[in-house]
Amino acid sequence: MGLQAVGLELQQIRENAMPDSPSSPPVCDYEGSSYRTDFWEGQGRDYEDRVERIAIQRLMPQGGRRLIQLGAAFGRLTPLFEGYEQIVLLDYSRSQLEEARREFGDTKYRYVAANIYNMPFVAGLFDGLTMIRVLHHMQDPAAALAEVRRIGQSGGAFLLEFANKRNLKAIGRWLLRQQDWNPFDLAPVEFVELNFDFHPQYVRQTLHEVGFAPGRSLTVSHFRVDLLKRSVPTGLLVAVDSLFQWTGGVVQVSPSVFVRSAIAGKDEPAPDGAFWRCPSCGGHEFEERSDRLVCQSCGAQWAIVNGVYDFKTPISA
Ligand SMILES: C[S@@+](CC[C@H](N)C(=O)[O-])C[C@H]1O[C@@H](n2cnc3c(N)ncnc32)[C@H](O)[C@@H]1O
Ligand SMILES: [Zn+2]
Repeated sequence: MGLQAVGLELQQIRENAMPDSPSSPPVCDYEGSSYRTDFWEGQGRDYEDRVERIAIQRLMPQGGRRLIQLGAAFGRLTPLFEGYEQIVLLDYSRSQLEEARREFGDTKYRYVAANIYNMPFVAGLFDGLTMIRVLHHMQDPAAALAEVRRIGQSGGAFLLEFANKRNLKAIGRWLLRQQDWNPFDLAPVEFVELNFDFHPQYVRQTLHEVGFAPGRSLTVSHFRVDLLKRSVPTGLLVAVDSLFQWTGGVVQVSPSVFVRSAIAGKDEPAPDGAFWRCPSCGGHEFEERSDRLVCQSCGAQWAIVNGVYDFKTPISA
């Protein structure tokens, strides 16, 4: 992803966001931002939006029992998962989730404000998981992905999108000595605060280490070049990108890569029928009131405001 493309994505950064884990990595917080209109609508990114939808439809099962969108924001991609019985939108930003709720309502959707590093769900809850345009904000990708694995159900599907440091533009700039970091080096590169590009091999290895079995990759947004986007009809660019996506099975040199993993190994045990897990103590029994959930193990109270379950900071009694 180019610098200008992330400029608007970089919002207020909150250090040590989780009260229960002072060592939690910092969060790139979109609270209060107008991400939809500042970054997507009318911002010349129809091409990226359309090719991402194609990749998602190619890689994710058409339906299932329960899907979570990690870092869902305002729900740009939510309509693609209609085939699932229940859909959870998780984001750190309450305002993004409230915006999504105004559009999708509550019928089969649930809105959860929480930190990906410490999520309020019991183990093995989801058979479908997506994390799109979010890993690039993760300072500790292994910790984030391990937590994603924990809430996934063995045999389920996890679709991850990441910003690829080994893309053609970065390779060219490096060869011309216009860029000091080496796109072939496996380590993540933080090119703007809390915005990281990753090497495809590093991502696959990390997925594997935390309990996923990474499978098919598709490369996406091959033609993310302003001049091309301005001079070639979007429909044509989308059609050619759609063909090129299959090259992701051989080599990945596009700025964005989608990889589908199977959820491997055994799930941690979780009590039958349980859904929530207290981010403070790990307890799974709650009293649900109209405006809060009260953890029966540690007494922490988690607010429900405007239909959003807020697990960021407990409220006082
Ligand atoms: C670039 S947006 C992507 C939104 C959506 N996935 C899409 O593609 O349209 C990144 C989102 O990730 C969320 N996010 C970043 N770090 C997070 C964290 N640690 N926990 C939960 N959400 C996080 C931000 O609040 C933001 O809404
Ligand atoms: Zn608790």
